[in-house]
This record gives sequence, C-alpha cells and structure tokens, in this order.
Amino acid sequence: MKIIVLDEVDSTQNIARKLLEEEFGDFIVVAKRQTAGYGRKGSVWISPEDGLWFTMVIRNVKTNLSTLPMIIAVSTAKAIEKNAKINIKLKWPNDLYIGGKKVGGILCETILSGEEVKAVLVGIGLNVNINEIPEEIKGKATSIKIETGKEHNLMELLKVIVEEVYEDLKKPINEIMEEWLKRDILVGRNVELKVNGGRMKAYVSKINEDGSITIRHDSLEAKIYYWQIDGIEILN
Ligand code: BTN
Repeated sequence: MKIIVLDEVDSTQNIARKLLEEEFGDFIVVAKRQTAGYGRKGSVWISPEDGLWFTMVIRNVKTNLSTLPMIIAVSTAKAIEKNAKINIKLKWPNDLYIGGKKVGGILCETILSGEEVKAVLVGIGLNVNINEIPEEIKGKATSIKIETGKEHNLMELLKVIVEEVYEDLKKPINEIMEEWLKRDILVGRNVELKVNGGRMKAYVSKINEDGSITIRHDSLEAKIYYWQIDGIEILN
C-alpha cells in the first residue's frame, strides 16, 4: 500500500481528495502536522506534532456506508489495544476514548461520481505522543502517551490500524458489533443530542447493525443515524 508522508498540510483529507485522480488504487496520506484539520460537521480538529493524522483512501467499499465509521472505529480501537496495550472505549458514532476522555476520532467522507461511490476518505486522528493537551480541549481530551506513560511509534501504529481495517471490512457486521459492544459507553445512558442547532434529551437503548442508535424520549422511540445529528453528550 502506498503511504505518502508529508510534514505540514492543511488537512490530509484535502490532500487525499486532490491526489485521488493521480494515484491508482488505495493509498494513505499521513502528515506530521495539520493546519486546518477538521472533524465531523466541519468542527476544528487540533493536530499538532506527535499525533497520528492520516487519511486512508479506499476505493472499493462494499460495506453499507452507515456502518463504515463503526467498523473503522472498532479496527482502530483493536489496533491501539494491541500496539499500546491500553483499553479503548467507543462512543457512537466515531469517537475513541480512554478513561472518559477523547483520544481520537474518525471522519468518513465519500467521493461520488454521479450516484456511485468512487472512494471513501477515511480520516483518522489520534492523540498519540502528545504531552500537553491544547487549552481548548483540556479536560475533555487525553493522549495515549499521557495514559500509558510511554512513547509509541506512529508508523508502526498506522500499519497495525491499516491491517485491522482491511481485515474488518471483510467481516460480517455482527462480528463488528460484538467488538463494538465490548467497548461501548453509550447504551443505557441518558444523553443530550445536538440537532439542527437545538438540543434534545434522550435515553440510548440500543446500537443497531445498520449503524444507527435507537433512542427513547418520553414514550417515543426513534432510530438516529450519525449524519442526522451534530453531536451527542453523555449526561448520566
Ligand atoms: C471527529 O472526531 O470529528 C473526527 C476527527 C477526524 C480527524 C482526522 S485527522 C486526519 C484527517 N484529516 C482531517 O482533517 N481530519 C481527519
């Protein structure tokens, strides 16, 4: 697999999108720093040196797109657990946590050609060897180094993640769900959903194999897909 390593970029997602036409097959763009890294719904993703910031370009995605971020999150969690020997928790739809703090996130963007999905840009951001959590996210975020007390080799970790992703893309979704549920922190919790600029309280009763969650609000039950909400906060 071709890995393009760069020093500073705006966002590896943008570079991958530009290179899509020139490169053949799947490839990876990894950068030491991003000046305009972004997350879901265009949120700012702070990407200083010592983190792992990369985009995997996957062209032949046969998986249902609503489950893709969950598959990638499971693969990434397993890879970190193997490589850094620390347990990872998962917060739907695509956040990785250690001990109540966010350590990484996943962003899947599709490139369409008419109705057809030409490629998926799978962006993975992990606070790996970061010593000081930036002020803006202090208290809410952590790094693998802070939690393990050790440095981890970024390229080694990247390789293990990529291997896990391609393995997991071949697996039936029930196997992925099993791995997800071992690490899930959302089911059975009261949450606040951010929707269309507003907020709504709900109880998360289930995570479904189509990538959605089932929530309860008063006596109403609804299925929510990740693209329908801007964020989700755990209340208790
Ligand atoms: C999120 O939690 O909202 C997802 C964050 C995804 C960040 C990664 S870092 C590599 C890639 N390049 C970006 O600009 N974003 C993704």
